[in-house]
Amino acid sequence: MTVPSVAKAAGKTAITRDGFTTGLGVLAATLGSAVGLGNIWKFPALTGMNGGAAFILIYLLCTLLVGLPVMIAEQMLGRHARADAIRTFRKLAPGRFPWWITGVMGFAAAFLIMGFYTEVAGWVFAYIVKAASGQVLSTDPAVTSAAFEGLVTSPLLSLVVQWVVLLLIGAIIMMGVSKGIERTTKRLMPVLFGLLVLVGLRSLTLPGAGEGLAFLFRPDFSAISGEVVLIAMGLAFFKLSLGMGTMLTYGSYFREDQNIPATATRVMLADLTVSLLAGIAIFPAVFAFGFAPDAGPSLLFVTIPAVFTAMPLGSVFMVLFFILCAVAATGAMLSLLEVPVSILNEQFQMSRRRATVITLVGLALVGSLAALSSSATAGLKLFGMNAFDLYDYTTSNILLPLGGLLICLFVGWVWGYKNMKAALSNHGALSNERVITGLFLLVKFVAPVLILIIMLNGLGIV
Ligand code: TRP
Repeated sequence: MTVPSVAKAAGKTAITRDGFTTGLGVLAATLGSAVGLGNIWKFPALTGMNGGAAFILIYLLCTLLVGLPVMIAEQMLGRHARADAIRTFRKLAPGRFPWWITGVMGFAAAFLIMGFYTEVAGWVFAYIVKAASGQVLSTDPAVTSAAFEGLVTSPLLSLVVQWVVLLLIGAIIMMGVSKGIERTTKRLMPVLFGLLVLVGLRSLTLPGAGEGLAFLFRPDFSAISGEVVLIAMGLAFFKLSLGMGTMLTYGSYFREDQNIPATATRVMLADLTVSLLAGIAIFPAVFAFGFAPDAGPSLLFVTIPAVFTAMPLGSVFMVLFFILCAVAATGAMLSLLEVPVSILNEQFQMSRRRATVITLVGLALVGSLAALSSSATAGLKLFGMNAFDLYDYTTSNILLPLGGLLICLFVGWVWGYKNMKAALSNHGALSNERVITGLFLLVKFVAPVLILIIMLNGLGIV
């Protein structure tokens, strides 16, 4: 086995850690984590339900003032400690306050997010087949809706598609960080961008596409409430894979010479571009064919197939579109899986293979409740939500913001400016002091205050 360059660069000889080998690899993997069903399934659904452009504007503000600083903080901590999400805090915060709980929360959040994410990914994989075989080729939402219902209300199909997804990403994760994650995402990301531009162009050239664009870009603030702001912030966390140690874990595989603020900014901008492109691919077509934009989570599986069927060459574009979704979901799931796998691997000294198998079994159990939430366990509700919605709501609107808050407080008030400056300037190699000062103020004051206010207000506490 060759010694990974990251371990050499970090000057550590005791444990050789796998890591990303090139700057491009870092970018592909990190962007691969950020871009996912969040862009294509969540972003359009939430935008459609919460008033369009006004929601996007608030989401943008949350991304800039909270998301970007948290992403940079996470990557910085991970690279500095070169450890998983729990051990990073044990290493950097040996004092009394148990900051490592942030890592434990991340471990739990990974299971809850994967619990529903693998199911949606399973639908996407199934839809590639359905689209190719013509099963969802209808312009009648009642027909496409029945096809979707047929899938989600079948306990067996729901479980099988989820297991297929789990096995696929488990196999990639077992190959390791550089040979599994880096190699896969490097190949998939260009495919994703190419497909997205293609589908976007098709949608934009439809007659009547303008109304969809207006919906995306002309703000109407009447739909905005405290809860909507919380949902927008939750989306910012979910979108950039923040608040549960994903970016921290990936940061621990970064090279020493990686410019973290620049990398994070690029990833944020590219991710935003994908979301807007997804919106541009979806909404003009939705309006052009007279469908409602506020269908919510089923927009992707009920409205979109009908929209595609209604356009020339639609069946071809529909297959391409669902392949695109599958590609995006894969890179994101790899990063979600890596968090618990690296914790079991390093903190609990398990082999990577064993850590992966145990995580997959856990995920299959936690995930089955979400998979069966429209069939066998439909009656199982907490706070009026089934397991699928509960996993989704509690992670985006509670666990991720809470994790982000803890990370900000730790960096701003415990780790401090000096450490942050050394880490983000690569020990003086980069002259980016002003950027670092600005980031520090965001992390220490602005982001924590915003997170607290938005959470308390959005959850109806104050
Ligand atoms: N960002 C991904 C998406 O938009 C999902 C994701 C991957 C994620 N890793 C994460 C969300 C960690 C929250 C936390 O689809």
